[in-house]
Amino acid sequence: MCPFHEERTPSFSVDPREKLYYCFGCEAGGDVFRFVQEKEGLGFPEAVEALGERYGVEIERESEDPEVEERRRRRARLGELLERTARYYAQYLWESSEAGKAREYLQSRGLGEEVLRAFGVGYAPSAWDRVLTKSQEAGYDLRELTAAGLIQKGQKGGVYDSFRARIMFPVRDPRGRIQGFGARALRPDTKPKYKNSPEGELYRKSRTLYGIDQARGPVAKAGRVLVVEGYTDVLAAHQAGIAETVAVMGTAITPDQLQQLARYTEEVVLALDADRAGRAAMLRAQRVAGSRKLRLRVASMPAGEDPADMLTDGGADRFRDLVLDAVELPEFHVHVALGEADLSSPGGRDRALDEVVPVLAAMGESITRDELARVVADRLNADPGLVMRRLAASGDSPKRDAAPANPPPEDGQAPPRAPARPLSARELQERALLAMCVASPVEGREFLQRLTPEHLSAPAVERARHWLLGHLDEPLAGLPRDDDELVSLVTYVYTRADREPGGRDAMELNFLQLEKAAIEGKIEAVRRSGGDAPVELQRRRAELAERIAHWETATSRL
Ligand code: UTP
Ligand code: MN
Repeated sequence: MCPFHEERTPSFSVDPREKLYYCFGCEAGGDVFRFVQEKEGLGFPEAVEALGERYGVEIERESEDPEVEERRRRRARLGELLERTARYYAQYLWESSEAGKAREYLQSRGLGEEVLRAFGVGYAPSAWDRVLTKSQEAGYDLRELTAAGLIQKGQKGGVYDSFRARIMFPVRDPRGRIQGFGARALRPDTKPKYKNSPEGELYRKSRTLYGIDQARGPVAKAGRVLVVEGYTDVLAAHQAGIAETVAVMGTAITPDQLQQLARYTEEVVLALDADRAGRAAMLRAQRVAGSRKLRLRVASMPAGEDPADMLTDGGADRFRDLVLDAVELPEFHVHVALGEADLSSPGGRDRALDEVVPVLAAMGESITRDELARVVADRLNADPGLVMRRLAASGDSPKRDAAPANPPPEDGQAPPRAPARPLSARELQERALLAMCVASPVEGREFLQRLTPEHLSAPAVERARHWLLGHLDEPLAGLPRDDDELVSLVTYVYTRADREPGGRDAMELNFLQLEKAAIEGKIEAVRRSGGDAPVELQRRRAELAERIAHWETATSRL
């Protein structure tokens, strides 16, 4: 059974010789590192480290530089200091009478003990030196305590605990190592509301994704990540079973954070404040994402509500609906801009155009963009040609070959977009094989030549096969712009290419399966016209089934 998706029929195969795995149901595939990356939502270096740790293999690092070695030792000590301090805070939350008010507060916010313990939430005593004294007793010096952000200097030169009388949220990296703390004041009049660890070698707010250590598995499984504003939003989402959730600590999402998320998934749903500043940040983020094939969607929160309160006040279903209804970021942005624009004056319409052109430009050339541009032209009562010219002039769009610009259809109507539908097993197989051909061009050329229209589910797939045969080195360059199906197929195949296990065996198996599908198609056609399928076809099908089964047992099956 494939560990990446729920399924009824087994489709997951492992090739022990090539050390590759592949699922024909959901197209997950790769080598052992890729497997750990996908299954546990780790990046490549992390997957290597995780495997090393699990099997007791020492990972040899590039540098044996003593300075580097020393820095690593120091980091490890700071890490231990942060861990023991977090344990102390957590224990203090659950056991001290001083923390009674904090426990009550958390309960009143609807956060249960289970989720609080899972995230190691704690409470810092109000006394000025508890962490200072206990850590010194354990052998940590002032320099280390300062570097860990746990103490700070007072006006008279003395030092005291940085965090006092605050609810403590340990902030961890993807591997679960503590980087610092977010500390929430209990009293509403204490400023700041949240005090965070100082920016330094360990803690960088712009990089932090709160909850990523708990979320990465669920993100890999769900195939998307949900991004919220704050600590309590993450806890509430987790408690409601939406475990693929992380927070960006109240700031606008940064390119750095998006790059990290891109290592775990291709789809990001933002449940963030979408005021003007927030939207501008999302747009910057989209520029980064655009080049990384990230799909960004926005779940717009009703003004004045945040996920934590909605989720804990019985609005979990409403929240889930908001996430389901999330719209693509550029579309969201364009609609908000059009909604806010003063459409009654030419000046207002010009300003609206100024705002949406960069959004459209950031999307890169695509059918979706063309459609959105038409919507804009329509709403601004402008010539679609004007919008396209402004786009071209913005210079942000990636250059293509000398293909002529896509003229808008005569009647100004957008072509109907095919509704998204799940692909059949056969379609997945043919696409996977085409992707493998792109990934391994040498074998690819051979398989592309062996494939005939009968193997393929639709004429567009045959056009894609033909196109790839002539453009295997650079499949995206110069795609004819008047064939939307071809463009979308080739793009799909191209983006899947680096995930295919490739290798002759995987390709051969895929080819055999398509051959079987082709023959079954013929048999079915004869049956439909009322005849009996020729013995020859029956025989070939049986033979193919046998070869496929043979191939599958030769490579072990999970
Ligand atoms: P919010 O003010 O929305 O806090 O800030 P919250 O998460 O809803 O907290 P509760 O539910 O009132 O306890 C969102 C996030 O912004 C960051 C924190 O990460 C917070 O979770 N923030 C906020 C700060 O870093 N400093 C602040 O002073 C305020
Ligand atoms: Mn909030």
